[in-house]
Amino acid sequence: MTTFKAVKITDQVYWVGAIDWKLRNFHGYNTTRGTTYNAYLILGKEPILIDTVKKPFLNEMLSRIQSVIDPAKIKYIISNHSEMDHSGCLPAVIDKIKPEKIFASHMGMHALQAHFHFENEITDIHDGQKIQLGDANFTFLETRMLHWPDSMFTYFENDGILFSQDGFGMHLATDKPFVDQNDQAAIKHETKKYYANILQPFSNLVSRIIDMLPTMQFNISMIAPDHGPIWRKKEDIDWIITNWKNWAKSDYFQKVIIIYDTMWESTAQMAHAIAEGVTAANIPVKIMPLSKSHRSDIATEILEAGALLVGTPTINQQMFPTLADVLSYLKGLKPQKLIGQVFGSYGWSASGTKLAQQILQDMKVNLLDEAIEIRYVPTEDDLKQCFELGQHIAKELKNRS
Ligand code: FEO
Repeated sequence: MTTFKAVKITDQVYWVGAIDWKLRNFHGYNTTRGTTYNAYLILGKEPILIDTVKKPFLNEMLSRIQSVIDPAKIKYIISNHSEMDHSGCLPAVIDKIKPEKIFASHMGMHALQAHFHFENEITDIHDGQKIQLGDANFTFLETRMLHWPDSMFTYFENDGILFSQDGFGMHLATDKPFVDQNDQAAIKHETKKYYANILQPFSNLVSRIIDMLPTMQFNISMIAPDHGPIWRKKEDIDWIITNWKNWAKSDYFQKVIIIYDTMWESTAQMAHAIAEGVTAANIPVKIMPLSKSHRSDIATEILEAGALLVGTPTINQQMFPTLADVLSYLKGLKPQKLIGQVFGSYGWSASGTKLAQQILQDMKVNLLDEAIEIRYVPTEDDLKQCFELGQHIAKELKNRS
């Protein structure tokens, strides 16, 4: 079957991945524009497949390969990342093409065996190792915890392509294989969203890899990730590397994000009064009611924010369930350098705000003033206190710049 065609990237490299137009949930991340699972075929003297695709897309990938070469002729597979969106069909591919060797990082070798419990031998390669396969020359760069322990980049010297697995990727289903062919607003948003939701917890390691890249003496003409389109223009490659560097070091951004949920609109009133205080001090603010905002969009906004304010009513001595969801998610993403505070309405026990405050403390958010806890419905004086909290937060952000 050759319904699906390979897409030529260079004279000897083809994109042979799959487009997942309908994906909307990537383990809790709202992928509103779908995604791609990228696999690449190098047609040198000895054909090589770099990564595979999610299991249900096996036939699409094989069809694309078949459009340029009999898949059985593939001699080597390089697995840059063992997460199942890139390895899910690996056992079936191995059965079909019977490659001479499968390469992965040392951790990748163990991860693949733990996933698939197969007998196939994996050849592990170490950080900085160079190998020649036919007339193709590679250098491998271990990128542990970007974002899994097994992750690695493969640099293809012949064409200057850095195959970067999840690195520099985005969730964007598109029929246009290169970044510069796509809508640039979508590229920028999805790149930021991907960093915020996938890479943010590992920002220290991102900084280390970005600093290391120039020392590797790579002559990069393209960055080919495992999700979304390929970076080929110098200005686009510079843009993505610069943005990753900036997100990793987490500047002192001057923007306030307010997240809240509400039972009888009391906590909502408080959120709006705080926002007015921020606005009056000329600092940008965004209110994200949890009834209308997805956790992954909140994480994306917080990536370039300096303050997080959290509003929750107390229900059955707990914070509101939507807050528990979002705060658990955000805590895992480890956003840096935030100031903030908690607010909310209660009836007979303000334990919801206290639980939320504990999570912000665990996240090392610098809490200003006291949490504002209002019994049942806020008075004008209560709303004035909320307004003043907004002003104080804005003033602190200005002082930090
Ligand atoms: Fe796209 Fe970490 O898998």
